[in-house]
Amino acid sequence: MGRSPIRSVAVIGAGAAGAAAATALASENVFEVIRVFERREVPGGTWIYDADPGTIELHPGKLPPEVDTPLKIPKTVPRTTPPSSQYRYDRTPIYAELTTNVPAIAMSFSDEPFPYGPFVPHWIPKQYIESYFSLRRTDSFLVLNTTVEDVTSIPAKGDPHDRWRLTLRRHDSIRDVDVWWAEEFDAVIIANGHYSVPIIPAVKGLNNYINKFPGIVSHSKSYRTVGQFANKRVIVIGNSASGHDITTQLVESGKPKLPVYQSRRSKSRWDGAGPPPGIEWKPVIEEYNAETGEILFADNTRLTNIDAVIYCTGYGPSFPFWNVEANGGPLYDYAKGHLRENYQHTFSRVFPHNLGIMGFPRVLTFRSFEYQAIALARLFAGRHSKPLPPLSEQEDWEKRRAELVQRERRKFHDIEWDEGETMDWFRFLFELSGLPVLEDLGRCPPVLGDATRWAIDHVRKYPEPGREDGEGDLEEEGWVILEQRKDSLHFI
Ligand SMILES: Cc1cc2nc3c(=O)[nH]c(=O)nc-3n(C[C@H](O)[C@H](O)[C@H](O)COP(=O)(O)OP(=O)(O)OC[C@H]3O[C@@H](n4cnc5c(N)ncnc54)[C@H](O)[C@@H]3O)c2cc1C
Ligand SMILES: NC(=O)c1ccc[n+]([C@@H]2O[C@H](COP(=O)([O-])OP(=O)(O)OC[C@H]3O[C@@H](n4cnc5c(N)ncnc54)[C@H](OP(=O)(O)O)[C@@H]3O)[C@@H](O)[C@H]2O)c1
Repeated sequence: MGRSPIRSVAVIGAGAAGAAAATALASENVFEVIRVFERREVPGGTWIYDADPGTIELHPGKLPPEVDTPLKIPKTVPRTTPPSSQYRYDRTPIYAELTTNVPAIAMSFSDEPFPYGPFVPHWIPKQYIESYFSLRRTDSFLVLNTTVEDVTSIPAKGDPHDRWRLTLRRHDSIRDVDVWWAEEFDAVIIANGHYSVPIIPAVKGLNNYINKFPGIVSHSKSYRTVGQFANKRVIVIGNSASGHDITTQLVESGKPKLPVYQSRRSKSRWDGAGPPPGIEWKPVIEEYNAETGEILFADNTRLTNIDAVIYCTGYGPSFPFWNVEANGGPLYDYAKGHLRENYQHTFSRVFPHNLGIMGFPRVLTFRSFEYQAIALARLFAGRHSKPLPPLSEQEDWEKRRAELVQRERRKFHDIEWDEGETMDWFRFLFELSGLPVLEDLGRCPPVLGDATRWAIDHVRKYPEPGREDGEGDLEEEGWVILEQRKDSLHFI
């Protein structure tokens, strides 16, 4: 595709996506500077376990841009300022008993297996990501304890191409000051994850209830152990991965008062015809009465004397560092629920040559990051095997995808497995990347072989709903082999 002018690349985030990006960029052996900025003290992202989640601010009905706001950037840098006390959502939601929910063969990067499987405790992915940086000799790219506070496009103005200016902040604990500086790069990959800012729906009376009864309402982000809920009457809200797993753990521990109430907005793939023993299903909560402490549900039933309400209602993406004004608009459209002016969940139509975003789709995780990372590294190196389509075609893709997901009532960035959508997406990235060159430059996009696809189809952490005894399926210790494949990646 011709020599690219891109010589320096910044990666924001040292989670699994950042690790994949670093390896793919290094393998091209063409970039003079690769820097991976990470606000935490170690790589690992989501998989870092924070035993103490700190106080997590609850903002019912609010979206990430309203609560995870940009920091005030000093007019000139480098400089030091008094330390910022703004809450930054940088702790993770990992809890003590969390194990992975994707079989190891399909979750790990293709070039390095997890040490064991199929469903490993949370510290395995954490150790794995950290080691992956060293194993691929990309650890020297890491700039830890450093938050990217601003990303601004610098228009070309006579230079061969646009560049990026990143404003960075690191807390210096010895001097107790924030140190600010800026660095410029030819290209940026955003790999900042999207499970940091908790979402809590707006419910009538909820704000007053939180103020009147502090400590009762929480989000799954601060759930750590069942011990927090011993002898408590608990309502869990939500029945996706967090809601299901936390409710199961609570009930199986026998610690909270039973039943544990689970408020469901819709039936999930986990749910059988009726609730498992120890759980009572409730519909959505309509109202909290801060005077009486009563909680009213959509079916007009009420609960009182509740000791804990755990909102397992998910997370919202947040890009406080994205300079909306300088970069011509926000990165994400919260009303539509998808990245703005994006192509294939990865490329930017506004900055098609020097911006990438990784880790956004709800799909196989680490493995998909590899395809995205290799495609972006190849594009930035100018070695991709075919060009991205014209911008008008990319725009058509976004329109078609929006129509499809609206028709099928699913989310824009949820990529399905069963009908081949995931494979089609991987294939697109695979073909765009093309093969490495003979002199061993560039990573080869991985194959997704039979064994991996079989595991995705058949290996499950939980028995099928209504078949808790594993009837018909082969029950292994702590996991299940399904007789028939069905909704294979619903658990992601
Ligand atoms: C509770 C929970 C359980 C999960 N379980 C599974 C599972 O079993 N299997 C599975 O495949 N997936 C699971 N996931 C999904 C998980 O998030 C992915 O596996 C994967 O770790 C995401 O990687 P990432 O690199 O995209 O994001 P992250 O892991 O979130 O990494 C992003 C990194 O960017 C850093 N960062 C953010 N903003 C900045 C900034 N401004 N400056 C510098 N650094 C910044 C963050 O500190 C973080 O380290 C789970 C998610 C959650 C929340
Ligand atoms: N390894 C593991 O075992 C594990 C454990 C936990 C989490 N995770 C991962 O963490 C990520 C986030 O999962 P998550 O479960 O926290 O979030 P999520 O998948 O976004 O689920 C949010 C849940 O909240 C429900 N909800 C939203 N508003 C509601 C309301 N007003 N009343 C009742 N329910 C409401 C949603 O219902 P609708 O379905 O109706 O929208 C959905 O069930 C996923 O990638 C997941 O795989 C993994």
